[in-house]
Amino acid sequence: MLLQENFSLKALNSFGIAVSAKYFAKFSSLEELTNTKELLNNKVAEKSLILGGGSNLLFTKNFDGIVLKNEIQGIRVLQQTNDDVIIEAGAGENWHGFVLHCIDHNYGGLENLSLIPGTVGASPIQNIGAYGVEIKDCFHSLEAYHIQDKCLVRFEANDCSFGYRESVFKKDLKDQFVILNVCYRLSKKPRLITSYGIIEQELAKKRIIEPSIKDISDAVIGIRKSKLPDPKIIGNAGSFFKNPIIPTALFEQLQKQYSTIPGYASEKTGFVKIAAGWLMDQCGWKGYRKADAGCHALQALVLVNYGNANGLEILHLSSEIIASIKDKFGIELEREVNIL
Ligand code: FAD
Ligand code: EPU
Repeated sequence: MLLQENFSLKALNSFGIAVSAKYFAKFSSLEELTNTKELLNNKVAEKSLILGGGSNLLFTKNFDGIVLKNEIQGIRVLQQTNDDVIIEAGAGENWHGFVLHCIDHNYGGLENLSLIPGTVGASPIQNIGAYGVEIKDCFHSLEAYHIQDKCLVRFEANDCSFGYRESVFKKDLKDQFVILNVCYRLSKKPRLITSYGIIEQELAKKRIIEPSIKDISDAVIGIRKSKLPDPKIIGNAGSFFKNPIIPTALFEQLQKQYSTIPGYASEKTGFVKIAAGWLMDQCGWKGYRKADAGCHALQALVLVNYGNANGLEILHLSSEIIASIKDKFGIELEREVNIL
């Protein structure tokens, strides 16, 4: 384990923000993590940040503590029947690589979540979701290390309070645990989820009538590439805000004024999820740019760094957006990205 000082994080956050960490170390096992922690406790009681792929973070200043980058690898099958399999992946595994591994072995369930950046270990933090699936639908359990109590804890789905882009790890247990590995229960007889209209359109375009999980994955990859900016080219952290969930009565009132407003069924009865990107588009934010901070030209919800924006410029832009949406629609947007 190498402890580095004043370490640049520019290449380690998908927004490409030029900040540094007072200390930085990588760990690829629990032992390495605890050794680093002990070393630090002897030195100074530092605040710490567990870093995965850095694709859901906005740094607004240098990190005045230690950044610990999770690089725990390994994928293995723990249990299987004729119908399903429980598969465990190290928290530092690349998420999309893990999804492709499952598809190659015909283990179904995660194919709609193809090409989401980041690591396996971060997947439960905000219950990642896309195209009609969230990880909670296949989640089995995870193992995590309690930083203060120095003990291992196993979490099952009921312990995680999963919700839309939410979990207990973003709320009550924020920054208390290091997730070491995550287990998913996947199906050997996959039930395909093609209900998201755009997936059906993509399959129809390719004249695929009986899709495999690989076909679904390819369709999702195609759709994502067509509208989301590649962070290697334009810095971003995906959707900057959550889609607001509003009472059905308010939605119906808005529909009278704005007939094209997109609304989706919410798991909460009496509520509708509406598209934050559409609200932003209506306020003229799509393609907006001030210096190097802006909103993507194809998807307003994705705030971007065109090169040298700093975190505060992006944060200020997000505050202006929140104020404008509140002013026009009376709806308060909530940031999805973790602000540091
Ligand atoms: P990081 O950004 O490194 O960390 C995020 C948070 O999790 C931090 O608070 C960090 O401390 C914590 N954390 C990370 N690993 C651990 C661990 N092992 N133990 C404890 N805490 C940890 N998200 C979606 O849900 N759906 C999408 O469709 C989607 N599309 C995206 C598209 C693009 C182009 C981009 C850039 C992002 C997108 N995202 C999406 C957001 C992002 O990919 C996910 O939130 C992802 O899970 C973040 O993983 P990460 O490893 O990069 O986490
Ligand atoms: N829209 C506009 N203008 C825009 C952007 C969107 O009118 O500038 C409209 C679209 O035309 C569409 C609707 O808004 O009718 C929804 O857009 P889209 O299908 O692109 O999805 P989204 O709601 O913006 C959500 C997730 C994404 C996820 C996709 C696919 C959130 C906050 N975002 O985006 O997740 O990949 O659905 O399921 O829930 C992420 O979390 O980082 C992320 C990218």
